[in-house]
Parts: sequence; C-alpha cells; structure tokens
Amino acid sequence: MCGIVGYTGDRGTVEVLLEGLSRLEYRGYDSAGVSVIDGESIALRKKGGKLAVLRSSLEDAPLPASATGIGHTRWATHGGPTDENAHPHLGDDGKLSLIHNGIIENFAALRAELEADGEAFASETDTEAAAKLLGRAYRETGDLTDAMQRTVGRLEGQFTLLAMHAEQPGVVVGASHNSPLLVGYGEGEHFLGSDVSAFVKFTPSAAALDNDQIVTITADSASVTDFDGNPSEPKRFEVDWDSSAADKGGWSSFMAKEVSEGPVAVENTMRGRLTERGVDLDLGVLDADVLRGIHRIVIVACGTAAYSAMVGKYAIETWARVPVEVDLAHEFRYRDPMLDEHTLVISISQSGETMDTKMAVQHAASRGARTLSICNTQGATIPRESEAVLYTHAGPEVAVASTKAFLAQVIGQLLFGLHLAKLRGTMTDDAIAEIVAEMRELPDELREVLAHQESVHELAHWMSDTRSVLFLGRHVGYPVALEGALKLKEISYIHAEGFAGGELKHGPIALIEPGQVVFVVVPSPRNEPLLHSKIVSNIQEIRARGARVIAVAEVGDAAVLPYADVVLRVPLTLPMLEPVLQVVPLHIFALELATAKGLDVDQPRNLAKSVTVE
Ligand code: F6R
Repeated sequence: MCGIVGYTGDRGTVEVLLEGLSRLEYRGYDSAGVSVIDGESIALRKKGGKLAVLRSSLEDAPLPASATGIGHTRWATHGGPTDENAHPHLGDDGKLSLIHNGIIENFAALRAELEADGEAFASETDTEAAAKLLGRAYRETGDLTDAMQRTVGRLEGQFTLLAMHAEQPGVVVGASHNSPLLVGYGEGEHFLGSDVSAFVKFTPSAAALDNDQIVTITADSASVTDFDGNPSEPKRFEVDWDSSAADKGGWSSFMAKEVSEGPVAVENTMRGRLTERGVDLDLGVLDADVLRGIHRIVIVACGTAAYSAMVGKYAIETWARVPVEVDLAHEFRYRDPMLDEHTLVISISQSGETMDTKMAVQHAASRGARTLSICNTQGATIPRESEAVLYTHAGPEVAVASTKAFLAQVIGQLLFGLHLAKLRGTMTDDAIAEIVAEMRELPDELREVLAHQESVHELAHWMSDTRSVLFLGRHVGYPVALEGALKLKEISYIHAEGFAGGELKHGPIALIEPGQVVFVVVPSPRNEPLLHSKIVSNIQEIRARGARVIAVAEVGDAAVLPYADVVLRVPLTLPMLEPVLQVVPLHIFALELATAKGLDVDQPRNLAKSVTVE
C-alpha cells in the first residue's frame, strides 16, 4: 500500500515527484522519500512522517536539478515509519536507488544470504534486500533492465519495483508482479506511477502494465517486456478526468468534497447507460447468451464495497430472480466455494487494487466462473483480470473513507440488476421503466439531502464526547447501518456497531442502557409497510430501555416522530434506491464528528486507501 512515482524528462524532477506523491499519499502516509541522479551519483532524501515533512526538508535543502528520479510514500509493513526504513533504498555501493510497493515474502532468506556475503543493511525493510540484489545483478550485466530481469526471478510475494542507476542517467526501470504499475506518456518525458493520479496533471495518456512485466522509460521512449525479455505493447488509454478533480478545491477535506460530489458521481455512473425506459449496458464477452446461462451470482468485495454489494444482492435477486451471495473477498477463496461456468463472480472495488478482492477474482477465474468487475479506477488490476468491467464514474476518491464511491457502486449494481432482469424476462418493461425514472431523480434528491444537513452538524457537535454509537437497519437499510458504523469507527475512532433490526433481541439489545445513541435506518412506510412497522417496534424496544434514537426516515413518515429524539429526513424513492439517499446523512455525521474531535478525516490512523497486501 505504498505510492510509487518515477520520472524522466526536463520538467523539474523533484517537483514532478512531489506532485505525484501528494496525489498518492492516500495509499500510505507514514514516511516518504525521493531520489534523483546527480552526475555520477544518487542524491536522496527520505523522512519518517507525512509528505509535508519531506517537502519542508527539501525546501530547506533542495536536491540538485536532474532529469531522472523516483519517489515513494510508504505505509509501513516491515519496520517502523522511520527515516531509515523510508524508501528509496540503495544498492551497488550507493549507486543504485530502488523503491517498492508490496511485500517480498522471502526477504529474510535473501537478507541472510546477502549479509553472509558481506552486504551491510541500513534498514529493517524487506525492500532493501531487493535493492542489494539488483545492485549485484547490475554489476554482472551492466544494464539495469537486464539486471531487473535477473532479480525479479529471485523475489517471492508481490511487488512493484522502480529503480535507477547512476551509471545510466535518464533511465528508470520498473517491474510489476501482482501489484499495479502504470506508464504515463508525455512529449519528451515519461512517467511511472502506482496509479494514474501520480502523473495525470502532466499527461492523460496512460497504459497499465500486465502482470510480470518490466518497463524501461527514458525521456523519449517507454518499452515493455515480460520477465523473460519478450517485447510487449501495452494498451494505451486516456484518463477520463483531469487533475483538478483530485484537488481539494476550497473544501476543508477531501472527504467533505467527495461527499458533496455524490450527485455527480451518481449522474456520471448512469450517464449513457439509461435509455428512455431501460438500461443499455455493454459487458463485452459477458453477452446476453452468457448472462442468460448464469444460475448463481457471488459478489466479492471488502469494507464499504461489500456493504454496497449487500444492497446489490437484494436488488439483483429481487429483479432478476437469480440467487446472489455476498462474500467478503478475504473469506471467499479460503472456504473452497462451489464455482462453475454458470456462476458469475462480480467483484466490487473502488481502487481496483484491493489484494483480497483481486485474489478472489483470480480464484473464481481459475475455477471456471465468469467474472465481472465493478470498479472506479481505469486501468486498475482487478478490471484487467476480469472478463468484463462496468466502470463506476465517481471520479477520483482521495479520502481514505469511501463515500461517493459507495453511491456509484450501488448504482452500478442497480444498472446490472435491471440489465439482467431484462435479459431474463423477469420484469416487465413498465416495471423497469418505473425504476429507471426514479433513478434519474436520484442526483437531484441527493442535492436536496446535502442541502439540509444542519441537524446532522448540530448532532455531531453535541455528540463529540460520545464513546459508543449503534446503528440499526433492516432489508437494504441493514447494509446502510453497517456502512454508517464503519464510517464512524474509521474516522472518529468511536466504537460503533451496525445490526439488523431483527437481530436486536438475539443479543445486541443487552448493549442498550440509558443515553446510548442508536441511529435507525427506517424503511419507507409506503414501500415496505410491514418492515416499517417492525422497525418502529425495534425503536420502541430500545427507547423503553433509555436509548436516544436518531431516525433516518422518509419525508412524511410521521410514525417515527413520537419515538425518535431526532429525525433526519430523506426524499421519497423506491425501495432498492433508498440506500443511496439514506447513507448520506450517516457519512456526513461521521465526517462532522471526526472534525469536531479535531481528527484528520482524510488520513485516519493505521489505514491506507488502497489495501494492496493481504
Ligand atoms: C471504508 C473503506 C474501505 C474500502 C475497502 C475496499 O471507508 O474505504 O472499507 O471500501 O478497503 O476498497 P476498494 O473499494 O478499493 O476495493
């Protein structure tokens, strides 16, 4: 979960690297470093702490101007976040510099071997063993690309490596094994990055390396081979957002900005996919015949994406009448799931790089299942490893806590559910048209929700000393409750749990004591009268035991009024669409409460945006 950037060109290497790192800091932010080729040596600066620490050190004592450099932002795995453990690491007596994302699983054996042969190590990282090995390979081959080819064969685990050698100025070599690496193509300059945000400010033209490939960039060229040296031509694409989309603008945090972008994220995910009365999806090889032959769907995802999947399950099952399971991606392959060519495994991932989800997709493919990715990041690994992709177009999400991506993930699954229902003939055209019409209303309804959040702000300030918050929901409100709890614990460090309302009497009600705050996600009384009355009973049960109830309820739902201390209103919509609106007050509540506590909402402790290790 580290961020990687490499550059060759004459734009001002350190500035390019720092710009790239500032975009990648979401991937890891406990230390950072850069190095450039300076004449016949390597100039390097690396610092524990956030990127700002490195930046101010470079302002105080700049590195020399150079046309070649690499930079890294780290999320510690092997060794604490110290200056020594920060990347880059050196090899070949300080003439080679290397950065790394991922984990080198056999580093202990490699290190022992290298130490026995006289190498001295300066850090506790797994990375340094790769730097030393690459340095030795360079001494044997005299060429960094050849040396990289030799070195990757000795490494186990998953990794992206970038390296440069003082004897080859103007060259950066990268290698990728089960870890992302993208090339950015400029005029007289080239870039490498963990994702396109590393270089999108300078060029929209990009290509993602396939697994087990090596890339060599100079100012004028970018050449790719496999690990055996066979040339390959990566497929280029144009990034469909510009770098201003990943700027904070005037917002106090990326999370605040991203919550406000929910309506546009939903609009963009639906754009070009809704016809007047239906849905128009092109899922490539997963064509009508294949999808009609699907007997079962398993959705794999982690965290917030998995909660969106729970909403997707309800919608797809109800509309297309296909059994749908949701699996946490990290549990999926370890339970030896039953898979065949009639099973569709849908992965959901904002980043498209989550290791657990990627491994689940690989496992599904290896067992003959069909694979579809619902992903927010162009050129990411998971969509490339899936047979088809439905991109959500939520735009870049920088804050660690996922918000607008959740909305877009739900929309992506609703679109897929309607597409499948149409193909399988399980819904009438009128029924589909009714849902499509309601979906079109969602962006404006979201704007309305966002415009009326004063009571959430007040609530969050009033509750800033609260130590525990519970969330209840039923049906599609249950994943909303889980998401509300995750968001709160993630950025405000308050203990929070989400429960299904029906589960209350099976245990969790024991937690209710006078003053306990409980958010209740209330289904629409018009859409689901039975469920609505059940949740009103749940509210009465917890109120009777002294809980303070905050209800998220539809406009006009009067039945909750006598029992709720606070009611947060959301507009009327159809049942499967409710989560898109209901989740927003919960996201804002978490954001406001963490802000009231003075916490860094964009970079919560111990977390990174992209979890690229298992
Ligand atoms: C929570 C959050 C995480 C991610 C999870 C999956 O706010 O951001 O729970 O949802 O790590 O990440 P992606 O969607 O990138 O696979």
